[in-house]
Amino acid sequence: MRLKRRYKWLNIEQNNKFVDRILFLSVPSALVLMILAIFRIVSPLTATLSYAAIVVFNSVLLLPITFELQQLKKYIASLASGADVNEEEMVLSAKETKEIIKSINAMHHFWAQKADDLEAQSISDAAVLDTLPDPIMMIDRAGNIIGANLSSRNLFGKNLMDKNINTIFSSESFIEAVNKVLKKQSEAENLVFYIQKPKNQKLYAHIKQLPWLSKGRAVAVISLYDMTKSMKIEKMQSDFVANASHELRTPLAIISGFIETLLTSAKGDPDAQEKFLKIMQDQTSYMSALIENLLSLSKIELSQDEKPHDVVNIAKIINEVKAALSLKAKERDILIVPKIEDNVSDIIADEHQVKQLIQNLTDNAIKYGLSQSDVSIKVKMVDKIPASKSFNVMDGPAVSIAITNRGPKISSENMARLTERFFRMQEHKDLKIKGTGLGLSIAKQIIIRHHGNLTVSSGNLNGTTFTIYLPKNQSEIN
Ligand SMILES: Nc1ncnc2c1ncn2[C@@H]1O[C@H](COP(=O)(O)OP(=O)(O)OP(=O)(O)O)[C@@H](O)[C@H]1O
Ligand SMILES: [Mg+2]
Repeated sequence: MRLKRRYKWLNIEQNNKFVDRILFLSVPSALVLMILAIFRIVSPLTATLSYAAIVVFNSVLLLPITFELQQLKKYIASLASGADVNEEEMVLSAKETKEIIKSINAMHHFWAQKADDLEAQSISDAAVLDTLPDPIMMIDRAGNIIGANLSSRNLFGKNLMDKNINTIFSSESFIEAVNKVLKKQSEAENLVFYIQKPKNQKLYAHIKQLPWLSKGRAVAVISLYDMTKSMKIEKMQSDFVANASHELRTPLAIISGFIETLLTSAKGDPDAQEKFLKIMQDQTSYMSALIENLLSLSKIELSQDEKPHDVVNIAKIINEVKAALSLKAKERDILIVPKIEDNVSDIIADEHQVKQLIQNLTDNAIKYGLSQSDVSIKVKMVDKIPASKSFNVMDGPAVSIAITNRGPKISSENMARLTERFFRMQEHKDLKIKGTGLGLSIAKQIIIRHHGNLTVSSGNLNGTTFTIYLPKNQSEIN
């Protein structure tokens, strides 16, 4: 208890072996004094007093060193545990101790800087990986996932870490390929496989061994590429070619059939000849409309990444469209009635495409609207384009052009298919109304290029309204 108090008074730790060290240091002097006393060279009292003096002297010499060593120990332990320590709080007297502290500080700063750099590097690496659209995962020697980018976490779930790939993928060929890389039987493996969960997907996988110096325990990296979308696009393209060929083959077959008839059975029959030539004329004009629309569609698709830059006056375009379709409108006793609000400003767009867009929709309104009725074209400015589920729309003010015709309501099933290529409603085919079924797909592509939108509403009372939204300016889209 007394010893404890003394330690406290000396401000040193209890388990610092201070007493042991003093006793140990005093052993040689004690032996020498003992021998001197045995041979009576000095008296036992002198030997004892001398020994006591040596012990006191050693204590005085050792105490500051013990005290500073203890402080050094505490300081290093605090640095190691990452605690905030202030070296100025230490009472250091020896020059050597101060130098030791200086060296420790320099070493600590060096490694702290290195650790900060590494942390920043790994945060930026993770951020870069998270921007990639395809899933990327790192696995350890046992096939456990020890790193996954955002795309992987989105696809396979947030708690992906430390799961074994066996528990996530059921494809035997994929697991086999991963094992081959893990067992170093192969440096890299590529394969195409299917997954059912979380959804049916066809994936292309690239599995690669990592070099020795890779981060953490990672020994291989798996990158996946979703092939479902590209397969869908390929299918759409081949369907489109098949549909286009089919659409062209039908009128060609009709024309060649009538040429045959004109050359044989109808040879001397002028009435039949006139009738058949009329049909052939219709079919050729249908074919040229089809080819024109197909070319138009591919041209618009090619321009999809180009930013439109014409200054377009909507009122001027509507007047041109009205003039171009006046004859067609007259044939059906339809009146085209434009209503343009005063504050409608010019927009930045592709003038030719905007004209094509308004013309296609007005043409439809005349063709499919009730005869002896009005087709109204109402133009106004709006603050915002309504969002679309399938493409990006531009923020900010826009012009809205609503084209309305009278006529029966379009059913919801038909409504959903209106912009499909070659889609035509059965009732209009039955009424033998001419059309290629491409006008609205062209309109949709133009809308997408301009980052606008196209909405449709239809009812028995109010008729059918197609509303075009085109942004006032073509700023950057996010
Ligand atoms: N205003 C409308 N009212 C009722 N049905 C319409 C209207 N506009 C389009 N449709 C229907 O949508 C189908 C597709 O229209 P789209 O403009 O793409 O082709 P089309 O008019 O048949 O051919 P094209 O435009 O090449 O002459 C039309 O065939 C028609 O059945
Ligand atoms: Mg049309």
